[in-house]
Amino acid sequence: NDKTATAKAHTNIALIKYWGKKDRELNLPTTSSLSLTLNEFYTITAVTEGKEDTLLINNMMQDPKRIHQFLDFLRQNVGDFPPLTVISRNMVPTSAGLASSASSFAALTAAVAKYNDWDLSEKELSRLARRGSGSATRSFFPGFAVWHEGTDDESSFAEALPATDLPIALVVCEIAGTVKKVSSSDGMMRAMTSPNYAAWVEESKQQFEEMQAAIAAKDLAKIGELAEKNALDMHALNLTATDRRFTYFNQMTQDILAKVKELRQAGFLAYATLDAGPNVKIITSQDQAETIQAKLKEAFPKLRLEIATPGPGFSYIKED
Ligand code: DP6
Repeated sequence: NDKTATAKAHTNIALIKYWGKKDRELNLPTTSSLSLTLNEFYTITAVTEGKEDTLLINNMMQDPKRIHQFLDFLRQNVGDFPPLTVISRNMVPTSAGLASSASSFAALTAAVAKYNDWDLSEKELSRLARRGSGSATRSFFPGFAVWHEGTDDESSFAEALPATDLPIALVVCEIAGTVKKVSSSDGMMRAMTSPNYAAWVEESKQQFEEMQAAIAAKDLAKIGELAEKNALDMHALNLTATDRRFTYFNQMTQDILAKVKELRQAGFLAYATLDAGPNVKIITSQDQAETIQAKLKEAFPKLRLEIATPGPGFSYIKED
């Protein structure tokens, strides 16, 4: 059987973060989160029958352990299927600190569903992908998506917010020579031991509501302000963890954050967000993105910079 199924999913950046699990087995988050799907970064994944589950990313063999566990979860919970060769093309700069696990597990879930002719709704795909990686729940949807934390397996899934033509852009700063030392799963478990964790969860609930209002009102400054506060407070939890406190920030992170503040004081629309790595993503408008990119390049000539804009939902790709 040489049947192949292929799907594409874009990565997403959380503006209200997922940073903690209330159920590790089901991958239920402690908070609802809200993201923007990005047009420029995506994963295309093809699956075909193999001798055992194997994984190739950009033509390189990878340790298949994590996807093998996920495929076994699908075999046991949705329907059995043979061992798969998973061939992924990752158009996400590996060092960009953009969760490539989000687009990867979303594309894989969709490809496996297509391979097996499973007729699943977007909601069901989102719920299944959650078991591979939490941030993947949000990568099926165009534009802004919300992942409802839920109380059980059934109620924890993502969906798109109403479409908007908001001219938002992201300037992604890729700090060279970055290796991710603390995985997001481990990082969030540590963060949950911070004495400030409960307060962050409480504030996040509020910010999740305010963010949706700011998106509906197309208030870019408010969106940026809320996202920056949510993210910086999340990173403060890592520093105040009682179990193995740590930080993803390095000197370059601090320098870029200072620059973002300086740009804002000079009247630009510029707010920062960061995920499980040192790289800063600057939230701005499509009008100002190129100017901000140029200013960053001028201040930090070694920095790799990319502009990202709102992206589409997942899609299936026809084999020819
Ligand atoms: C900081 O989705 O990578 O990017 O569910 O353990 O795979 P797992 O975690 P993951 O965590 C992403 C964390 C984040 C914030 C976010 O994307 O919401």
